[in-house]
Amino acid sequence: MTDHSFGVNPKTLPAWQDLEDLAESIKHDSIIELFNEDPLRAEKYTIKAGEICLDYSKNLVNDQVISKLIELADQSSLKAHAQAMFSGKNINTTEQKAVLHMALRSRRQDDYRHDDKPVIDQIELSLQRMAHISHQIREGQWLGVTGKPITDVIHLGVGGSDLGPRMACEALRSYALSGLNLHFVSNADGAEILSTIAELNPETTLIILVSKSFSTQETLLNANTALKWLSESLGLSSPQSSTQVIAITADKEKATAFGISTERILEFQDWVGGRYSLWSCVGLSVSIYLGYKNFTAILEGAREMDIHFRSAPLDKNMPVILALLGIWHNNFMHAETQAVIPYCERLKLLPAYLQQLEMESNGKSVSLNNEALDYSTAPIIWGQTGTDSQHAFFQLLHQGTHYVPVDFIGFINDPVSNRKHHNFLLSNLIAQASALMTGRTKTGVAPHKIYKGNKPSNVILINELTPKNFGAMVALYEHKVFVQGSIWNINSYDQWGVELGKEMTRKVLKENTGDSQSVDTSTQHLQKYINTHTNVNS
Ligand code: F6P
Repeated sequence: MTDHSFGVNPKTLPAWQDLEDLAESIKHDSIIELFNEDPLRAEKYTIKAGEICLDYSKNLVNDQVISKLIELADQSSLKAHAQAMFSGKNINTTEQKAVLHMALRSRRQDDYRHDDKPVIDQIELSLQRMAHISHQIREGQWLGVTGKPITDVIHLGVGGSDLGPRMACEALRSYALSGLNLHFVSNADGAEILSTIAELNPETTLIILVSKSFSTQETLLNANTALKWLSESLGLSSPQSSTQVIAITADKEKATAFGISTERILEFQDWVGGRYSLWSCVGLSVSIYLGYKNFTAILEGAREMDIHFRSAPLDKNMPVILALLGIWHNNFMHAETQAVIPYCERLKLLPAYLQQLEMESNGKSVSLNNEALDYSTAPIIWGQTGTDSQHAFFQLLHQGTHYVPVDFIGFINDPVSNRKHHNFLLSNLIAQASALMTGRTKTGVAPHKIYKGNKPSNVILINELTPKNFGAMVALYEHKVFVQGSIWNINSYDQWGVELGKEMTRKVLKENTGDSQSVDTSTQHLQKYINTHTNVNS
């Protein structure tokens, strides 16, 4: 069912106007002065949820701004929208789909419903299959066509069918069980898949094809290359139907038509958005690599964040506060970007993951009521790990002309590092947040040595990078996106913006093979240039 009743233009809300006035009056204040005025500021502007602590005191906000932001959330359709989501209404209105990825990490008593029946049974079944397959592969019981156990898994997928599992495996690699290698290939760049298979033994390689739609061009291209390799090396006429291929999809029919055996298709449902699918059987590679127990610990951490999100009051609700601060920076302080800097090399994929999560979800310019927006939505998300980024783009953060809010993320304990390194790493994190805020503007100092300071940041400190805390952290950002999308009155769960490019690629490919399709003259010119310079032997 479609429910448009929650569509409210946030600019028409009384709190929005008040926030515009507050932004005008606070913009020349100094964050450090706000600390001097309120000795309890740091404690007051710190929230805990499980083992995650958010210190948002280094933002250019005061009590008035925070309570007005809470009022904005209260006056918006956030609560009604959340209710609609939890009860399985089709809040993805352009595709008529429910949004129930939270159910994937829930338990029976959490009661997510869709079409009036609990979704939990489908989820239980999927989890059981994941546990069974992971166990069989791990124990050497899943055999390739020549009877040998699996030594290597290639996960083929792109976007939401790649980023979540890839990031989880990289972030939690210290939890990986030994004896099996995992490879991810997402890009259409042939050098990736070709160099991956070149190193592997086809007899002991399992290919996991992950595509919600089972029609994504890049994934099918890579799949066909990998299948050709299996076929040629093992003499198989239909490798896709062998034990060396598993498909994970929401479109079982397409996977079957592709030739995958039904017993090796794992299905997830339409109510799981691609970029929210890590929690589903899309995470099979994670379960194989880290073990099923660690995979379920990731789910448990996310579930705890869901419970926090559903039950904490708005002013103590971490995703809500994170979202509101984002709206403050974006819509009232007119920051156009948001940097994310994890102080943990194993989280190097977090910025890319959040780019898809935030920008594909909330990079929209039409409201839920199909009206053009006259306010900005998702900022540009970017970042890299500290300390490397300090030696790359921190110059711009400290002295550039852009106003860039930063999320600093760190782990208080790290059993796979040592005290000396870890102390240095965390000291850098808090020093950078401090330097951005305090700046340095002594009189008589040469202009190029002046740091204006007053640059906002959040510091997110997490006890340790465990599977559970990893799950909670990802869910924190998911809920942030939901809150922002609700307040901005947009559909965070579709991605029509990516379709035109796909269509144009199909046209260009046809043009290339001589099939006359109309592409613009600039594109024809580029195509001609490529064709005349292509080495015929390549
Ligand atoms: O093109 C964008 C997108 O549809 C993402 O939303 C999605 O995560 C990705 O492509 C992959 O899609 P699929 O899982 O259907 O292959």
